[in-house]
Amino acid sequence: MQRIRNIGVLTSGGDAPGMNAAIRAVVRTAISQGIKVKGILRGYRGLIEDDVKEMDSYSVCDIINRGGTILGTARSSRFMTDEGRRDAYEIYKKNNLEALVIIGGDGSYRGALEFQKLGAKVICIPGSIDLDIASTEYTIGFDTATNTVIDAIDKIRDTSTSHERCSIIEVMGRNAGHIALWSGISTGAEEIIIPEKKVENFMDSVATRMMIAKKKGKKHYIIINAEGVGNSIELAKFIEEKTNIETRATILGYVQRGGSPSCRDRMFASIMGAKAVETIEEGRFNRVMALQNGHFVDIDLEEAVHMQKGIEEDYFRISKELIR
Ligand code: F6P
Repeated sequence: MQRIRNIGVLTSGGDAPGMNAAIRAVVRTAISQGIKVKGILRGYRGLIEDDVKEMDSYSVCDIINRGGTILGTARSSRFMTDEGRRDAYEIYKKNNLEALVIIGGDGSYRGALEFQKLGAKVICIPGSIDLDIASTEYTIGFDTATNTVIDAIDKIRDTSTSHERCSIIEVMGRNAGHIALWSGISTGAEEIIIPEKKVENFMDSVATRMMIAKKKGKKHYIIINAEGVGNSIELAKFIEEKTNIETRATILGYVQRGGSPSCRDRMFASIMGAKAVETIEEGRFNRVMALQNGHFVDIDLEEAVHMQKGIEEDYFRISKELIR
């Protein structure tokens, strides 16, 4: 087996707290094994544009506690084309890269799958606040993001209670409801609306349930609405008109993507970063790092890309049972 001497690392797609911990682990593990590392700036776009820098042990000092990604990130439309990927592959070869570690979400995984068909060797690490990558129970950033969300909801609850209002909080997650479900259960929300379980006329059913609760003496309501369902402002207007309960909508937005990573995100991102390099050293390529049944494993990239992920049915059922 030929020893790998040069690898690259990049972050791609939406940034996520903990990506820096993963970069740090990739760089330090590789260097300790005598492997040189190049950092590619701004994801696949930087690869196409040859925006590459040498990384040493010191280049990743003081970053484990920082949100965002020191390498920068982007969503590259050029990399989605055959021509863009061919250009990127030329740069990959020009930099003598023998493998590339890609930290990103499912879009980045799909890009990696196409890229390896040209001859590149890739290893993916799941980085996304959305927890929407099918192959893994953990994605870098989800823990920090959900903690940011519950902190915000707890604060909104204070004012909602004081004013006897209904508060609708819209959270991120793209087409997935994991952030909404986890933060909804963790803050005791009265309603959790997620794309996976969206029913027709859901606004009507929410208003009806609220009126029943109002009759029983309930004075304030927290509704978590996933961005994949959207229309929080419209929902607030509808509820206020229908129930006569003052209603406000808060769209949490990009605050969910920032901040110092939690212990879990620092820890798991570090382990996955280190294991990604170990996988390369063992001569296994085109793999994705994953947490499955509580264990860190690596699985085939193509298999991972074709997996489907739904919502945890048990969590959804229990979320309903916990509402008074
Ligand atoms: O995938 C992470 C995420 O924050 C999603 O929750 C959200 O839908 C999306 O990225 C926003 O993307 P952008 O940064 O391109 O606006």
